Amino acid sequence: MTSSERSPSPPSSSGLLIVFEGVDGSGKSTQIRRLSGRLDKRSLPHLFTKEPGGTPLGIRLREILLDPALAASPLAQLFLFLSDRTQHREEVLRPALDRGLIVLSDRLSEATMAYQAFGAGLSRELVATLNKVALDGLRPDLTILLDLPVEALEERLSARAEGRTRFEGLGRDYFERVRRGYLDIARVHTDRTLLLDATLSPDLLEERIAEELLRRFPGRFGP
Ligand code: TYD
Repeated sequence: MTSSERSPSPPSSSGLLIVFEGVDGSGKSTQIRRLSGRLDKRSLPHLFTKEPGGTPLGIRLREILLDPALAASPLAQLFLFLSDRTQHREEVLRPALDRGLIVLSDRLSEATMAYQAFGAGLSRELVATLNKVALDGLRPDLTILLDLPVEALEERLSARAEGRTRFEGLGRDYFERVRRGYLDIARVHTDRTLLLDATLSPDLLEERIAEELLRRFPGRFGP
C-alpha cells in the first residue's frame, strides 16, 4: 500500500475540480468547450479531462468498454471503470489539482453510481465503497448535472448512428433509471451540485454555469 492510500488526501487541495455529468447526449462536451474558452480568454490555467479515457491506460479501457462485441458484464464493467478512475486520479487529477489548476472533467464517480448501480442494478453500497477507494478522498468541488428527459435523449441520439445503436441496445428503461439515479444523487449533494435543464439553449446554459462559478468561487472567477 502506498502512503497516499494510507492517508486520504483533502477534497481537492489547492486546485478546483469541476465535474460535468449527465446522460449521453446531454450536451456536456459543448458546455465544457465553452467554459474552457471562457477560462482561456481570462488566462485562467485549467485542464480538460474525461472518464473513461483520461490517461493512456484509460484510452485502452475505453475501447474495451465501448466495444459491443466484448459484452462485458455489469460487474466486469464496474471494475474497468474503476480501474480507469484510479489511474486517472493518480496520473492526472491529483497532480493537476496539486499544481493549483482548475480541472474540468467530463464525468467522474457519479456516472458509475448512475449507470452501474441505478442503471445496471449493481449494489449502491458496493459502488459507493469502490468509488471511494478509487478516488482516495478526492471529491469534486462542484458537479454540474445536465438533466435531460429520456424522450429528448432518444431524439438527440437518433441523430448519431452510434448513439442510436447504444440507446436501442440498453433500452429506454435503462436510461430512465440512469436519469433518476443522477437526480437522486443531486438531491443528496445539493451543496455541491448545480442541476441544470439540458433542454435549455446552449447559450443560456453557458451563462448559468458562469454565474454559478462566480457565485461559488469569487476568488477564482471574480474580476
Ligand atoms: P462518455 O465518454 O461520456 O460518452 P460520450 O462521449 O459518447 O458522450 O461515456 C461513455 C459511456 O460510458 C457513456 O455511455 C457513459 C458510460 N459510463 C458508465 O457507464 N460508467 C462510468 O463510470 C462512466 C465514467 C461512464
